[in-house]
Amino acid sequence: MPSTQSRYHETYARWKSDPEGFWREAAREIDWFRPADTVFDREAGAYGRWFVGAQCNTCHNAVDRHLAGRGDQAAIIYDSPVTNSKRSITYAELQDEVAVLAAVLRDMGVEKGDRVIVYMPMIPEAVFAMLACARIGAIHSVVFGGFAAKELATRIDDAKPKIVLSASCGIEGAKVVAYKPLLDEAIRLAASKPEACLIWQRPQLACSRAEGRDLDWAQEISKARAAGRKAECVSMAATDPLYVLYTSGTTGKPKGVVRDNGGHMVALKWTMKNFFGVEPGEVFWAASDVGWVVGHSYIVYAPLLHGCTAILYEGKPVGTPDAGAYWRVISDHGVVTLFTAPTAFRAIKKEDSRAELLKGYDMSSFRALFLAGERADPDTVKWAEDILKVPVIDHWWQTETGWPVVGNPLGLGGLPVKHGSPTVPLPGYTVEVLDESGRPVPPGTMGAIVIRLPLPPGALPTLWEAEDRFREAYLSLYPGYYNTSDAGYIDEDGYVWVMGRTDDIINVAGHRLSTGGMEEVLASHPAVAECAVIGMRDMLKGEVPCGFVVLKSGVNRPQAEIEAELVALVREKIGPVAAFRLAITVPRLPKTRSGKILRGTMKKIADGDNWSMPATIDDPMILDEIGEALKSRGVAG
Ligand code: COA
Ligand code: AMP
Repeated sequence: MPSTQSRYHETYARWKSDPEGFWREAAREIDWFRPADTVFDREAGAYGRWFVGAQCNTCHNAVDRHLAGRGDQAAIIYDSPVTNSKRSITYAELQDEVAVLAAVLRDMGVEKGDRVIVYMPMIPEAVFAMLACARIGAIHSVVFGGFAAKELATRIDDAKPKIVLSASCGIEGAKVVAYKPLLDEAIRLAASKPEACLIWQRPQLACSRAEGRDLDWAQEISKARAAGRKAECVSMAATDPLYVLYTSGTTGKPKGVVRDNGGHMVALKWTMKNFFGVEPGEVFWAASDVGWVVGHSYIVYAPLLHGCTAILYEGKPVGTPDAGAYWRVISDHGVVTLFTAPTAFRAIKKEDSRAELLKGYDMSSFRALFLAGERADPDTVKWAEDILKVPVIDHWWQTETGWPVVGNPLGLGGLPVKHGSPTVPLPGYTVEVLDESGRPVPPGTMGAIVIRLPLPPGALPTLWEAEDRFREAYLSLYPGYYNTSDAGYIDEDGYVWVMGRTDDIINVAGHRLSTGGMEEVLASHPAVAECAVIGMRDMLKGEVPCGFVVLKSGVNRPQAEIEAELVALVREKIGPVAAFRLAITVPRLPKTRSGKILRGTMKKIADGDNWSMPATIDDPMILDEIGEALKSRGVAG
């Protein structure tokens, strides 16, 4: 288990006493084309900017820089049980792939500052795409493949990409998911049309190309290779955006989280050694998807910046082919550290509770399991500790922060584990808990979890072309702080406990989704008068959505038929990732006298938790009706 001789306290104190000095020192790990004039300019941006005046390139640091000494080392190992294939790509090969693709993008007219949307499955080309953009200063925006056309269209309209990079299909377990029809539909829906698309054809399902718009990826690469075309790394300001990643916000409109180049590199590189305890040359695996922040930070950028071998796994924890898949990957590739979401471990536990499948694999390389993306429930953490016999580290962060806010820094020696708590704030973050009026609460008292400004390098400086929304969503409620929208408490030992969200976000299998967005979809159905979506506790996915709908008077079609349409509608508009499978028709929704829907109480009823009658309720009978409706569907009630 982690040692109690941790260097955490001295490291945190060093950061606290001189944050700029701390990050100046961390920045020595990065190759700069020009050093910063100011490590932190408090006058710039919404709360200050890091490494102002510095020039750099993220692709250079993630790829080219390693050619001296690591050219023949695997940079990426692509392991795809769903296509029964594996491919090892050295740093030298990665540089070649990325430089040629970057030249193709250039030839397609992509320039520094242009946006490029990447809508791809978990294949090496997705990583090449991100790095090629970074190389020429284009701003990538990766959209998760499990989102439907409308969600993609919303992101296209916000980012206004010059081009889109995509593939013919994704492979989800035994299913082949055609991506191209979704892309075509998204472009049809979007007001802002990309000039061109570059399409990677997969042998499992080829697609047609739109005349005059779509280019064949492989053909363009061949042509560029034949012509000896390669693009060099351009010099970027440290404060220039590297990418925009959309995440669910409190409305159906996603927030475009901006990540810069310089601070991002400094922070991620710092975490690899000091938080994850990983050395250059070791094999690091984040079992997530490049469409999420975990994929950006810990499948692609951090391991490559650190000179590690990154695993790119196209598969699931179970079913590809069985619940031993993770152990197989660890033993095949000598993985030292796995990072995944607790839900993956719940899935494995459900199928193989005694971890029988573990027995056949050589796990001798494996040192630690890191869990994040949703609350790590103590049962799952204990089970993972029991079967793996390595430290199991819960850590808490968000798309916005880009790297862990609270965690147990294994690289600094680690601290004693308290199951259910992600442990302590990392250097860079002063985490506090405030009450509704913005006053700090005593230890052990629940409240809003906030981070004192400024945010550290790597955290978002703003939202894409939405500075006002950035201020309003994160900075205005508690002046001087960043509002995480998570609720929880800090105990007497300084351990942070993250218990839930204060907004409409729910967490489904580690995927962040807005119930407000789902309500917008339900409300668009012609038979629906009003609706409410809540996140219900789920043994596997942590939470799953449940929609309550009140039908318009005069609608006399069978309820079951309408409910099935609603389920299909959410899948069509948001995507299968929402896992929206339960729409329940009720005569009325419970509300306060001022008309606010009592979603919190409905959730407690659905979860079978104790609940008390809200004093402000309009009609107490309605809660009984909700309980009955849930019971009739086999939900706790
Ligand atoms: N492209 C297209 N569709 C996708 C997709 C993708 N990249 N990813 C998921 N989907 C689809 C799935 O096929 C599924 O569709 P279905 O309703 O037709 O079955 C739906 O979206 C829900 O997917 P998922 O949440 O993955 O659930 P699942 O039931 O297929 O698998 C787990 C459950 C627990 C095995 C799975 O959620 C998992 O592996 N989680 C790991 C956690 C993780 O990666 N979190 C990311 C943040 S760290
Ligand atoms: P995302 O931006 O998709 O990474 O989701 C971030 C949100 O997931 C956080 O704001 C939390 O609500 C939740 N979350 C992530 N990690 C944890 C964790 N370790 N414990 C509790 N909640 C978490």
